[in-house]
Amino acid sequence: MRKKVTIVGAGNVGATTAHWLAAKELADIVLVDIVEGVPQGKALDLLESLPIEKSDVGVVGSNDYDLTAGSDIVVITAGFPRKPGMSRDDLVRANAEIVSAATAQIVKRSPNALLIIVTNPLDAMCEVARRVSGFPRERVLGMAGVLDSARFCTFIAMELGVSIDNVHAFVLGGHGDQMVPLPRYSTVAGIPITELLDKATIDRLVERTAKGGGEIVNLLKAGSAYYAPGRAITEMVDAILKDKHKILPCAAYLQGEYGIHNLFIGVPCRLGAKGLEQVVEIKLTAEEGAALQKSAQAVEALVKTLG
Ligand code: APR
Repeated sequence: MRKKVTIVGAGNVGATTAHWLAAKELADIVLVDIVEGVPQGKALDLLESLPIEKSDVGVVGSNDYDLTAGSDIVVITAGFPRKPGMSRDDLVRANAEIVSAATAQIVKRSPNALLIIVTNPLDAMCEVARRVSGFPRERVLGMAGVLDSARFCTFIAMELGVSIDNVHAFVLGGHGDQMVPLPRYSTVAGIPITELLDKATIDRLVERTAKGGGEIVNLLKAGSAYYAPGRAITEMVDAILKDKHKILPCAAYLQGEYGIHNLFIGVPCRLGAKGLEQVVEIKLTAEEGAALQKSAQAVEALVKTLG
C-alpha cells in the first residue's frame, strides 16, 4: 500500500510541499485547510498535472480531517503570518492555537503518525505539537535545519563559483536570527570552507544565512519563502518513508544532548522509518557551544510565553 502524507495548511508552503511530494511519487497526499475550496482546488489542479509527470499518487483536499485517517506523516504548515503591529508573543499565541487544534484532530485519526512541524516560530510550535499529541520525541520533528543549510550551501556555492553538488553545509540551533551556522563543518568537496574563504567572507555568508528568511520576505513584500521550505520538508519525508537512516539537521526535543534539556532545537538527527533514530552529538568549540546555548535561551523564552 502506498504511504500517506497529510499536509495541514494548503497555503504557499503546504501546496509547494504537495507539489514536490507528488512529483517524486512519494505518497498519497491529503491537503487540509480552513478556507473552503482552496485545498480541494489545489489538490485537483495538482492531480491533473500527474498524468504528464507520470506519477501515480492520489491528491485530495478537504476542510475537515476525516480523509487524513491513517496518515504515516503529517506536516503542519497552518498558521498566520506575522502582521504589522503584531508582537512576536501575539504570533506565538495565535499560531499555538492553530497548531494545537490541528494536532488534536490529527492524533484522533492517525495515532501512529509522525509529525513534521513547519509553522513559525518553529521550535515553540514543535513543543505545542509534542504536548498536545503526547507523542514520543521520535515522532515530533521540526523542519528548519535542512532549509537553513540549503541557504548556506547556496551562498557558499555562489561565492566560490562551484557546483552546489560539491557543497555541504552545517547549521545548528533555533530557526531564526539566533541560528548557529558551523563553518568548520561546512565543506566544499570535503574541504572545510575555513580553508577556502577568509573570516570576513564567511561571516558575511553566515549573516546572510541567518537572515535568509527575512531577505525573501523583504523581496516578496507579502508572504514568505516557500520553494526551498517545501523542498526541505520533502527531504525529511523522503528520509523517513524510505527508512534511509539519513542524517539531516532538524528541530528535535533534546533530553540532555548538547547539555540542553526538554527543549526543541536544531541538531543533526538520523532519520528513518521510526522518525528520529538518534541525535548526533558533535564536538563544539567554546564559542560554538555558547552560541547554541544562546539560541536555546531564545527558544526557551518563546516556549515560556505559551504558559
Ligand atoms: N487549519 C487549517 N489551515 C489553516 C488554519 C487552521 N486552523 N489556519 C490557517 N490555515 C491555513 C491558511 O488558510 C493558509 O492557507 O494555513 C495556510 C497558511 O498558508 P500561507 O499563509 O500561504 O503561509 P505559508 O507561506 O504557507 O507559511 C506557513 O510556514 O514557513 C512557515 O512562517 C511560515 O508559519 C508559516 C507557515
